[in-house]
Amino acid sequence: MPKRYTVTSALPYANGPLHIGHLAGAYLPADIFVRYLRLRGEDVVYVCGSDEYGAAITIKAKKEGTTPKAIIDKYHAMMKSAFERFGIAFDIYHRTTEQIHTETSQAIFLKLHEKGEFEVLESGQYFDEVASQFLADRYIMGTCPKCGNENAYGDQCEKCGSSLSPTDLINPHSTLSGSKPVLKKTKHWYLPMNKYENWLKEWIVKEKQNTWKTNVYGQCKSWIEGGLQARAMTRDLDWGIPVPLPDADGKVLYVWLDAPIGYISATREWAKQNNKNWEDYWKSPDTELYHFVGKDNIVFHCIIFPIILKAHGEFILPTNVPANEFLNLEGDKLSTSRNWAVWLHEYLDEFPDKQDVLRYVLGSILPETKDSEFTWKDYQARNNNELVAILGNFVNRPNNLIPKFFEGVVPAQYELSDYDKATLTDLASYPDKIGDLIKNFKFRDALAEVMNVARLGNKYLADTEPWKIKNNPERMATILNISVQIIANLSILLKPFLPRTAEKLDKMLGFDGKLTWEDAKNTNWVKEGTILQKMDLLFEKIEDEVIEKQMQKLGVTSNQLSVTNNQQTTISNKQETTSNNRDGEPLKQNQTISNQLIAQKDEINYDDFTKLDIRIATIVAAEKVAKADKLLKLTLDTGIDTRIVVSGIAEHFKPEEIIGKQITLLANLAPRVIRGIESKGMILTALDGNGKLRFLHPSEAVMNGATVA
Ligand code: 2FM
Ligand code: ZN
Repeated sequence: MPKRYTVTSALPYANGPLHIGHLAGAYLPADIFVRYLRLRGEDVVYVCGSDEYGAAITIKAKKEGTTPKAIIDKYHAMMKSAFERFGIAFDIYHRTTEQIHTETSQAIFLKLHEKGEFEVLESGQYFDEVASQFLADRYIMGTCPKCGNENAYGDQCEKCGSSLSPTDLINPHSTLSGSKPVLKKTKHWYLPMNKYENWLKEWIVKEKQNTWKTNVYGQCKSWIEGGLQARAMTRDLDWGIPVPLPDADGKVLYVWLDAPIGYISATREWAKQNNKNWEDYWKSPDTELYHFVGKDNIVFHCIIFPIILKAHGEFILPTNVPANEFLNLEGDKLSTSRNWAVWLHEYLDEFPDKQDVLRYVLGSILPETKDSEFTWKDYQARNNNELVAILGNFVNRPNNLIPKFFEGVVPAQYELSDYDKATLTDLASYPDKIGDLIKNFKFRDALAEVMNVARLGNKYLADTEPWKIKNNPERMATILNISVQIIANLSILLKPFLPRTAEKLDKMLGFDGKLTWEDAKNTNWVKEGTILQKMDLLFEKIEDEVIEKQMQKLGVTSNQLSVTNNQQTTISNKQETTSNNRDGEPLKQNQTISNQLIAQKDEINYDDFTKLDIRIATIVAAEKVAKADKLLKLTLDTGIDTRIVVSGIAEHFKPEEIIGKQITLLANLAPRVIRGIESKGMILTALDGNGKLRFLHPSEAVMNGATVA
């Protein structure tokens, strides 16, 4: 038995709000695991925080025309509050821009340097001569050598998932200036990962085969067997932790070096505040270390960070890295840049007191072994058919019957029937069953077993029908007493999964909250005479309108909403890869183009409207985009500049017919690269009754650049 546990969840980049994909990947599973360990009375620290360095932050700052500091302050506060409101029970939510983190990272870097663990190499790195700076991997885009995706990043192709180096890209270009970068010599500190191959073959390939999840083990094995290469641990950037050496001016630590060290600095800060010894949690062999991450972080947590810890020499290594696969939304990958997400802060605002509904739905569909899918219809069904109809319904029955027949006081147990005894024996078997599933990271199955306890309760009441035996008060009392014991144990078993619901049950039963997992094995511990406190319904039905509203917000038309008529064109998911909507984005599953009127969107205020820069412009050139049936490349005179917009209108307009036409342009839409072409803005169009697109233009010619207001 380990003496203590250190549990971490991936530090999210402080460059955007949290969405349900984050929760399902690295936070909800860890929170369930930690809450369970705490209920078992284990010594556990659960740390997380914002990842505040790296190109992810500087790119966002550039996009928003502000500083990295403003970005991280904004999103750190936003994420911290959303996690709290959702009930993720970190012991500390730290930041990588804190001084203690700089010190910790630099000390680890120096120790590795002093031990001679780095190789200092001079190599050619991409440099943007227009912006006169070295380019972080994310600032370089080009064609993926593996799948031909023209919009691959220097570190990764998001289409085929390959991990890349910037020099692998075909036709690289800088996203800062659009220019072709040149290779320029620069010196960096490399971690020779190849030297650790044999050790990794032993530590992972041999030793972890039976304990690590197959998705994690498989990915690691293929990395190790594919051969490891030295990886630079420093970068030429001005946003990061300075390399603590005299000959390293202008260089900072690689963000993937400092980020996982963030777990250690967070633990140090927590220990300082709580009078603990942080080293117990990171250096003691009787501590178990668990990293919860999404699948894109596997290599960093299973290979690179363990090499750093091993090379340092004083740290423990992860016992397990129970990474999850990805969660999709309504048939498409979640995407921050495409706003294709359910944002946690918005959910919390729009569904007050329904944190546990989302925890339940996500807990039931966690992508534990393969990608899984969130849909609003499924959310509604799980709420209405499971939380309301099974869990809420069971708790509600004794909650009504006891006030009615026993003045709200838990009645005594008299003689037990064989059926009563069998029910209680069954009840007592759940804590171990559920605990084993949690320990093996099978959170979906564990949650399903918790619901089976509610099913057991429903079945017990349906079979015994206490409301029908008013003439046998002792039997009625016994049945209701047993029902309360089931509720009480259920409230403990629910705690890791639905903490707020469990709290409501505790309150109803007058518990002080100091219950342990073991208590759920005792099936007769709620005392006769306990006064039941009044409790509102645990869950309420969610109506269709609420769900339709969320789907409309995403731009998804539900089947119920789509009126089938012969003029409607439905673009199915199968055609998705080749079908684009008018600004070049693939269409989402169920998204329809039709002449049917879409309900009015949510109200916005005048300030929201003034953010849109809508102008009249003239098309001065138009041509088809190679190998893209739906796209036209338009050159526009906007009055303020001449710019390119890529538009998904090729099926509706011939290039030669539209040159010289005035159109309406959303001018300040963030630029995007579509098929390797940077597109700045979006042409506004409307569908006519035959499903054909029409431009919007002024009734009389106006000056290019005239704003629409
Ligand atoms: O992928 C990400 O969002 C990273 N910010 C995760 C970092 S995890 C750890 F290393 F801190
Ligand atoms: Zn690719």
